[in-house]
Amino acid sequence: MTNTVIVGLQWGDEGKGKIVDYICPNYDAVVRYQGGSNAGHTVNVGGIKYIFHLIPSGLLRMKKLFIGPGVVVDPIVLKEEVEKAKMMTQKLDLTVDLRATVVTPLHRWLDGYLEEIRGSSAVGTTRRGIGPAYAERALRIAPTVSDVLMKGREIFDISSKLFKWEGEVDEWLKTAKEVFSSFAGDVGLKLQEIMDRGGSLLFEGAQGSLLDVIYGTYPYVTAVHTLASYACIGAGIPLGSIDEVIGVMKAYQTRVGKGPFPTEVEDEIGNVIRERGGEYGATTGRPRRVGWLDLVSVRYTTRLNNARKIALTKVDVLGGLRSVKIAVAYKIDGREVEHFPADIELLSRVEPVYEEIEPLPKLDKGEWARICKSGWSSLPREVKRFVEFIEGKVKAEICIVSVGEERGLTVERS
Ligand code: IMP
Ligand code: MG
Repeated sequence: MTNTVIVGLQWGDEGKGKIVDYICPNYDAVVRYQGGSNAGHTVNVGGIKYIFHLIPSGLLRMKKLFIGPGVVVDPIVLKEEVEKAKMMTQKLDLTVDLRATVVTPLHRWLDGYLEEIRGSSAVGTTRRGIGPAYAERALRIAPTVSDVLMKGREIFDISSKLFKWEGEVDEWLKTAKEVFSSFAGDVGLKLQEIMDRGGSLLFEGAQGSLLDVIYGTYPYVTAVHTLASYACIGAGIPLGSIDEVIGVMKAYQTRVGKGPFPTEVEDEIGNVIRERGGEYGATTGRPRRVGWLDLVSVRYTTRLNNARKIALTKVDVLGGLRSVKIAVAYKIDGREVEHFPADIELLSRVEPVYEEIEPLPKLDKGEWARICKSGWSSLPREVKRFVEFIEGKVKAEICIVSVGEERGLTVERS
């Protein structure tokens, strides 16, 4: 029995969905514990791309799936995904927690309105209503899944007064009741039963650690904790239930939305990496900002998550670039520091201190596939050096290297 959290070590889009899909055959269930439909997890199987926003990525392996109480659930998105899922698998074994917060049309409206009011200081949210849903939860006026099932339009009474909102709710409520009545349950209790039988759980983090509402680059963050330690709270399981954390990181850095990004590359190399890596948001389609791997921030997030293992993704994307840089420290006002600053103003003016690594080979898909088939020892020497370089700087073991979107383009350390 092993309970594992998969967590992003950067600003999201590290390839968590692919890693979850790859390792989930070893587990009995996959659990989402925070975030909502702002997430976009892309999994590629047999040349077909699947994008999920709410349903855990384990769907493709037909596992038991859970959306925990820490998630904010948009019933309209859930309905669409359930319909899509039912076309892909005969059996959808999904439980959505009764205590989970429900994202309403008011939340979506408020997300957009707030961004407009913020003007030039807009966060660049996904406009999926995530912030307003968590905020209403804290105000104790957001409906839970249980409220939607038990109550009528009065669930909007206070928030529509507060925000002077008069949107249509009857049709929405009908759909929400319908979709929740098929899937609602007590996730924590069910997970406990699986653990008591000796089963293993895989927790699928959404967004990335640098988007954590407290430990990320606030205020340019999402609205909830994204760190692995939130898995217990967000899934309804007791402290101490987690055995290991696998951090997922890309071989470079990306960010959607605004906020400081010390290693951002805005020249032609940035464009090359963006195009090669397909760096466009899975949820919003926005081009992602691109930059060099930043080991100062990764050291910080590896520590906060207690990620002893790392899955390194998209290594193929850097193949063939004449120069590959990695930030190993920051310079602040002429002083070199190795830790991630808590102050966002400082962070926005740090200068990365780079080390250049030996260029990585440019191989085609077939060559990478052959390497993956024959195992870790056949990884090109330059890739092994890249891996060792990172391990030396972040004090975690890289246990998986991913060199393409497809399942087969993955190699595990043996
Ligand atoms: P929100 O979560 O929609 O409120 O957006 C807040 C910030 O988090 C914005 O910068 C978004 O671009 C970013 N964000 C939210 N979800 C994801 C994700 O799944 N991947 C990457 N960035 C995300
Ligand atoms: Mg994503």
